[in-house]
Amino acid sequence: MSASKIVIVFHSGYGHTRKIAEAVAEGSSGELLAISSEGELPAGGWELLQAAQAIVFGAPTYMGMVPWQFKKFADASSKVWFEQSWKDKLAAGFTNSASMSGDKLLTLHYLFALSQQHSMLWVGAGTMPSNTKAATRNDINYIGSFCGLMTATPADASVDEMVPSDIETAKVFGRRVAEAVVAFVPESRLVPA
Ligand SMILES: Cc1cc2nc3c(=O)[nH]c(=O)nc-3n(C[C@H](O)[C@H](O)[C@H](O)COP(=O)(O)O)c2cc1C
Repeated sequence: MSASKIVIVFHSGYGHTRKIAEAVAEGSSGELLAISSEGELPAGGWELLQAAQAIVFGAPTYMGMVPWQFKKFADASSKVWFEQSWKDKLAAGFTNSASMSGDKLLTLHYLFALSQQHSMLWVGAGTMPSNTKAATRNDINYIGSFCGLMTATPADASVDEMVPSDIETAKVFGRRVAEAVVAFVPESRLVPA
């Protein structure tokens, strides 16, 4: 695993959030780091996060919150918290769930709180909502989230049937994080692209 400027650390139970994570990675030129079904990072995962300039946290919303596997990762990050060694890294977050709301905001707020416990600097969505009469589900940020990226996957949709505009919104979100790194992380200008 090579050191990366942006790391997307995420959990996905059934693959839908993974597809969103992949789009965020594409938009940000970031590296994916999956939390396993047992709530564990792969070998070298903590080192990859330590080397990152921005960490994007991602999880589906299960029962109005992150799944236990993500929480296990978050609790394990208390070792990092003791040292405050993620302090001043950029942070951002995303969640995917079945309903348009589905209490996704609780999940994003939790990801924000995690970042603040680590004294990180939160980057929001930075994208205007598509909320006029003319807006359709095919538009970018139709859900209208500001605090982070929200996507909605119908409960009976396969990974291949996910909403295309959500995938695009995730790429836009990834680009937003990448632009924030360039704007706010001085060392990023020294790292070859
Ligand atoms: C245990 C469980 C709880 C869920 N709770 C919610 C919820 O609170 N709100 C919601 O909108 N969708 C909820 N869902 C739907 C998932 O968020 C949705 O299917 C999502 O696409 C799953 O992502 P994944 O394939 O990455 O696991 C829940 C699904 C499961 C399995």
